[in-house]
Amino acid sequence: MYTIRDYIGELSTNYGLPDEKQCLKSGLMNFQPDDCQQFKEENYHELYQLILSLNDYIRVNLKTHYKLHKSYPSPRSLYPVKVFISLGDHKYLTKDDISGEYLVYRNSKLKTSEGDIAIDFEDKYPEYYNHIKKSLFLLEIGHLLYNITTLALYGGFVYKLESNGHNLLLRLEEKNSGLINSSKFDAFMESCLLRNSGPYQYRITQTGIKAVNFDELNDFIEHRISELGVLFHPEIRSGVSAVCGVNDGMGNFHYRTTSDTGTVDYKQLNQIYPYINFYGVSFYVFFYLNHTNLSDDHLTPLILALGYLTQSICLKYASRERYCRPIKSFNIDEVEKLMKVDSASYTPYYLVISGGFE
Ligand SMILES: Cc1cc2nc3c(=O)[nH]c(=O)nc-3n(C[C@H](O)[C@H](O)[C@H](O)COP(=O)(O)O)c2cc1C
Repeated sequence: MYTIRDYIGELSTNYGLPDEKQCLKSGLMNFQPDDCQQFKEENYHELYQLILSLNDYIRVNLKTHYKLHKSYPSPRSLYPVKVFISLGDHKYLTKDDISGEYLVYRNSKLKTSEGDIAIDFEDKYPEYYNHIKKSLFLLEIGHLLYNITTLALYGGFVYKLESNGHNLLLRLEEKNSGLINSSKFDAFMESCLLRNSGPYQYRITQTGIKAVNFDELNDFIEHRISELGVLFHPEIRSGVSAVCGVNDGMGNFHYRTTSDTGTVDYKQLNQIYPYINFYGVSFYVFFYLNHTNLSDDHLTPLILALGYLTQSICLKYASRERYCRPIKSFNIDEVEKLMKVDSASYTPYYLVISGGFE
């Protein structure tokens, strides 16, 4: 799906060189409404309904530019993703995210077994995202995959990602007890409700810095990276690196990598993304792609994995007083200089920042 050409094209635009359009092909036309099927809610597994509810709109916030919100973030609240759960026999259950109706579709092109999940999309991307829409789409799906696979696990379902050239499928690998662990489940759903990227009406500036512990954040991310082999191919783990920086309360961010420790100050960070004043940011996490794993086969799962890891951070730190904002449109060149990135080996690809608002 995402190729080296897409990656080079994206870098080309970021470095002010000619734009290369990323072509994203929707397979939605292959899903046709199944007229014969009378949908009765009780016919379907409770877990399927819960998984589909992860794609519901959960909040409408009128006092911001991007008003619609789901359990995961989406660039400019476009939310193009559609989720279909296989019922076997080429039938799929989905849920209309506006009406809340469960619908049954047929797709004779896909080969799936009951419980497998197919992800598709409606192309809602405006033209100014042409050079980057595949990247945004895969990152966003990565966020949703974290939610789906975490929830599924509470119900005893273990999934493995399969991405061939055109389709993204979650294959159901293991199906254990159908009992949902209710306390974990409730805590998870609560964090999905609280997750937010903060206000968009004004530049986020000096607000309440909610202190976080560097080691706790770092260990959490390392642990998540070590677990990537469950959903993705185990090789994916060595394809991503994370660099965290934590604000000391005065706008100085201490970071540590395997080869370097250092401090960057908020004024330098403001150069990489001018819509935020980093003085008020509690922490950042840069995700880098490791060049040794860059190949047409690896890139799709790698980018999905970055969205997946970022969502785990967004949910860990979700609260009423805090935002966690994923950011794609930062200046790569500036980040490379600021963070002293070994740019022959790594490319900064995605960023998440978090802070408090009062
Ligand atoms: C892949 C991806 C890229 C994003 N890039 C940016 C960005 O560059 N700048 C930004 O301010 N927000 C960015 N966002 C955050 C969205 O704009 C935000 O999720 C959306 O407005 C919905 O708000 P919510 O997350 O509070 O529900 C991004 C989100 C995703 C998933």
